[in-house]
Amino acid sequence: MKALEAKYEAQKIAFGPFVFQTCIAMKDLGIMAAIRKARGKATLASLSQDTGVSDYGVLVLVEMAVAAEVLTLNEEGQIDLTKIGFYLHSDMMTNVNLRFTNDNCYKGLFNLTDSIKNGKAEGLKEYGPWKTIYEGLSQLSPELRKSWLEFDHYYSDDAFDDALKIIFNNNPNLIFDIGGNTGKWAIASCNNSSDVEVKIVDLPGQVELAKKNIENTTTFKDRISYHPIDILKPETEIPGGADVYWMSQFLDCFSESEIESILLKIKKNAKKESKVFIMETFIDNQDYPAAKFSLVATSLYFTAIANGNSKMYSKSSFEYILKNAGFKVDKEYPLIGDSYHTILECSLV
Ligand SMILES: C[S@@+](CC[C@H](N)C(=O)[O-])C[C@H]1O[C@@H](n2cnc3c(N)ncnc32)[C@H](O)[C@@H]1O
Repeated sequence: MKALEAKYEAQKIAFGPFVFQTCIAMKDLGIMAAIRKARGKATLASLSQDTGVSDYGVLVLVEMAVAAEVLTLNEEGQIDLTKIGFYLHSDMMTNVNLRFTNDNCYKGLFNLTDSIKNGKAEGLKEYGPWKTIYEGLSQLSPELRKSWLEFDHYYSDDAFDDALKIIFNNNPNLIFDIGGNTGKWAIASCNNSSDVEVKIVDLPGQVELAKKNIENTTTFKDRISYHPIDILKPETEIPGGADVYWMSQFLDCFSESEIESILLKIKKNAKKESKVFIMETFIDNQDYPAAKFSLVATSLYFTAIANGNSKMYSKSSFEYILKNAGFKVDKEYPLIGDSYHTILECSLV
């Protein structure tokens, strides 16, 4: 890269938040949708008329978006989305990431330096008075909770169908869904098999919400049970009796030493023949650069907002922790579903 190009790229970072907020504003004000609808024929005046935004408002946003290569503006004054703009407008993954960044991370990330210095999620105070985001999930405003859940579900829902086939290969009678959240996996498991039972293991606030959701929307009341627990408290235990311990996007919520202690809690009461299935989006096991970029960025959400000490891990880190905790990986299912996830099938050594 030439010096002039590098200087230009550096300005894109220096003014990165301006570009980001321009995109959010254009979406929220309906400008992006109006541009898409006009198929290359939008003008500054038509956008102002279609959206009710002032001429000044449309102008400053369009100028920034053109400079950022989100829009084009031709000599006839016609405005269109570029390919990047098209993804920002229409692509599901991009929109889930944008909303999550804006609603759940933007204010918190301002505290990243202090979070790194203090080893604590200093940005969490922007959202509520909790020690971790997980304690606050059940208390987030409906809008923020929606963005958080859409982000969370986007990165697990697509994998559930393939995951069910893998987990039910061994016909388990009892599954513990550790970090069961809203109960999506428990419900999917009960839909998948007419006699399986599932126990959701999660924080008390989450368990309450999952229970309400399951009792109000399904007939699986008798097959789904609950174990409210703060898994990090030394005195808490994970009960025995499960054929399968299922952890989907759960262990990345913890530091390496906490992951090891959770695995040791499972090991303490597990039957010798129990299986542990771990589903994660590993940073060293991705096909697309956009996926890897999203994952390493997500690590900083953990640093500044979620809990201050966890991240998106590489598969090799997990293999190392599992070995230390006395587990072996029997089988690996790489990139299942629509396709960022890996499942590790593990058992006690
Ligand atoms: C990222 S979500 C994963 C949800 C779900 N398994 C999925 O695949 O979409 C992590 C879950 O772990 C739970 N969790 C976080 N910290 C916990 C703790 N200390 N004890 C018990 N559960 C915890 C959260 O409440 C949340 O439901």
